[in-house]
Amino acid sequence: MKLILATHNQGKVREMAQYLAELGLEVLSLADVGAPQVDEVGTTLWENAKLKAVTAASQTGSWALGEDTGLEVDALRGAPGVYSARYAGSHATDQENNAKLLKELQGVPQDQRTARFKTVMVLASPAGRVWTTEGVLEGAILTAPRGSGGFGYDPLFWVPSENRTLAEMDTAEKNAISHRGKALRAMIGLLRSLLEGGELAAEDR
Ligand code: IMP
Repeated sequence: MKLILATHNQGKVREMAQYLAELGLEVLSLADVGAPQVDEVGTTLWENAKLKAVTAASQTGSWALGEDTGLEVDALRGAPGVYSARYAGSHATDQENNAKLLKELQGVPQDQRTARFKTVMVLASPAGRVWTTEGVLEGAILTAPRGSGGFGYDPLFWVPSENRTLAEMDTAEKNAISHRGKALRAMIGLLRSLLEGGELAAEDR
């Protein structure tokens, strides 16, 4: 049975596909099924995650998983938040977003650079029913990037309990502690119970 990952972000596909495939589902990305990414027009992570999942499910007739992640920086009163992808402009690269973040935090001492990643994950059925899970990771923004793994803001996001950035971890290490890993584990539990209850098969086309 198919599950569409409603994203074109290969970093996210890499982090999620393997774990979902263990459920015996055929995991496909939007690129695999030739569907376009929807514009993130929502004003909350939940609205965007739901929009991605519901659109992909209705376009493909399969179950779909959407997620939206935001970085909240306390010294920036929660920015960039839901606008994290477009922080340095509508088609900003990861490097441009990271450069803008460092600029905005220039002069802010390390103990005031606390931040968190939040992920909201939404599962949508072909008929448009939705289920939601969430995950949060607390950390701080460094003054210079460290590490070459991960994607997005990972090289600047320092995890106190690990004493290293997310970009200094491999995918399995990041997943074990990350916002997306937490939301994903909760979603896998939910998917298991829907599979056991026969609900996924009942609506599959
Ligand atoms: P979106 O969830 O695709 O809208 O991503 C929001 C922004 O946060 C993008 O700039 C991503 O690169 C970044 N982002 C999303 N997830 C992560 C992550 O796990 N680590 C670092 N940056 C991330």
